[in-house]
Amino acid sequence: MRGPIEPFKIKMVERVRILDQEQRTEAIKNAGYNTFLLRSEDVYIDLLTDSGTSAMSDDQWAGMMLGDEAYAGSRNFYNLEKSIQEVLGYKYVVPTHQGRGAEHIISRVLIKPEKNIVPRNMYFTTSKAHVELLGGEMPDVVIDEAHEPENEYPFKGNTDLDKLERVIIEKGAEKIAYVNVEMNVNMAGGQPVSMENLRKVRELCNSYDLKVVFDATRSSENAYFIKEREEGYSDRDIREILNEMMSYSDACIYSAKKDCLVNIGGFLAANDKEIYEKARNLVVVYEGLHTYGGMAGRDMEALSRGLREGTDARYLDYRTKQVRYLGEMLMEYKIPIVKPIGGHGVFLNALKFFPHIPREQWPSQTLAAAIYEGSAVRTMERGAVSRGRDHKTGENIFPNLELVRVTIPRRVYTNTQMEYVAESIKEVYENRDRITGLKMVYEPRDLRFFMARFEKVA
Ligand SMILES: Cc1ncc(COP(=O)(O)O)c(C=O)c1O
Repeated sequence: MRGPIEPFKIKMVERVRILDQEQRTEAIKNAGYNTFLLRSEDVYIDLLTDSGTSAMSDDQWAGMMLGDEAYAGSRNFYNLEKSIQEVLGYKYVVPTHQGRGAEHIISRVLIKPEKNIVPRNMYFTTSKAHVELLGGEMPDVVIDEAHEPENEYPFKGNTDLDKLERVIIEKGAEKIAYVNVEMNVNMAGGQPVSMENLRKVRELCNSYDLKVVFDATRSSENAYFIKEREEGYSDRDIREILNEMMSYSDACIYSAKKDCLVNIGGFLAANDKEIYEKARNLVVVYEGLHTYGGMAGRDMEALSRGLREGTDARYLDYRTKQVRYLGEMLMEYKIPIVKPIGGHGVFLNALKFFPHIPREQWPSQTLAAAIYEGSAVRTMERGAVSRGRDHKTGENIFPNLELVRVTIPRRVYTNTQMEYVAESIKEVYENRDRITGLKMVYEPRDLRFFMARFEKVA
């Protein structure tokens, strides 16, 4: 037996097709070599994202039928509130339509013109955009190891406490809106944060009287890594670990579209009553009443059940092993990937994959487009196109990590499909010398990676 054992069986399938080579070449050209602009029906295996792409369980679908679509006080909201209180340990819950709704609210609650610095363990695209739209800055305080694709440090998502303290001292503690810590850091390759590091961030912030806000989007997968790798946690239940993790924060934002196994949803949760009350006031302006926040009752029910299911250790074991299964096949083929293999996907190192393509010709964008053209597998650029320009100088920023994210939706694809993906990427790797770069011909101002268009360099 090679692949991990699935702790479920399949009850319903969705048929998919594979376009032939000529059709794929046409499709990616029409999409401006941007995989976000492909039509989903032209994709065979969709590894663009793990966000909102999970397969729900029969229990979640059953819950959908129990949606209480009252405008106010839906019973599904109270179920959701209870799940969050039990699984994560927060006192207060404000639902939002998805993660960026919660990012918007927390930014508006805590960022002021004179208090607008948000240090974070590596940026995330939408989180940074909300801070910058309010005139703020997001200095990177992740440890250096996170920027080194080959470095096998087990907790590459950790905050560098010296870097954080330097930012606090240089900018002035009174300028820090809050310290933001992301779990299983997405842009670093799905790399976890250790419990010890969370505890120390809290201690440091206490000494400067600063608020700590988590981006707990992938906290269940992070908790699994703590159980697997951190001394003293191997016998602890995932929910116990999550409760301890969250106890080191004042609030969190959460995109439920990942670890909660639903297709839409999010929330802000807090222990700090003042944050909660301000957030509850704002949510009615931007998202919906404080007992639905942009979600239908049925969606809150599926989320409430999914949050619990997603903390089952047997499920998390399968989930992590399927991602590793793909990563280990790629390593066998000598394909350069980020190590250790992360929680939600395998990240290809485009700088090593295509050493002949200059950074100004977008190697990660080129690689994602080439993988689609070769096999109808859709992946995503996570490098300089995602990073964007320096808002002050207008120059492109070229981060150390120039990656392609091969993200695995939860409970959706079989291990055989993972083998197809590995073979497809291998084929591109074997023909890499023949592949040329791209030039950007359309560039949106904000979050340009979603809609930018490219042409092949002659
Ligand atoms: C770490 C992280 N934070 C926030 C978000 C934003 O959440 P959403 O896409 O639900 O708006 C995402 C989405 O990918 C994410 O990965």
